[in-house]
Amino acid sequence: MRILVINGPNINMLGIREPGIYGKNTYADLCELIEGYAAEKGIEVKLFQSNHEGSIVDEIQAAYGNFDGIVINPAAYTHTSVAILDALKSVALPAVEIHISDVSKREDFRQISYAGMACEKSFIGLGFEGYLRGIDYLIER
Ligand code: DQA
Repeated sequence: MRILVINGPNINMLGIREPGIYGKNTYADLCELIEGYAAEKGIEVKLFQSNHEGSIVDEIQAAYGNFDGIVINPAAYTHTSVAILDALKSVALPAVEIHISDVSKREDFRQISYAGMACEKSFIGLGFEGYLRGIDYLIER
């Protein structure tokens, strides 16, 4: 089984950005956690992070025929990007939405999730654990 894990803008700044909201662990720590978990579960993962909407769209399109599922934290693009929503719908791979913070308790502009409309499941506000829960969901599915 091959899972693509996509992280959007500013996720590379974890550990530096707003530690009160996102914690003190870095993006490298997140990658290590996910890679270790995938090895434990005997699956393949590819980790991709970009600050650019079009690059995320390209990566989703390239997943077609190459991956069995997508775990995605589109970060700020969650709340703005119809392009990412359409890309997820285009490839029609099972997708899971992740948010480190509990967006439901944050600003009004974070209450809409376009990407979430193409995802089977969302894990929100569970910190890094959400990514592992997303991987579990795709494995069990
Ligand atoms: C986030 C929540 C988004 O609203 C925000 O723009 C992010 C990170 C999260 O993981 O909690 O960059 O997706």
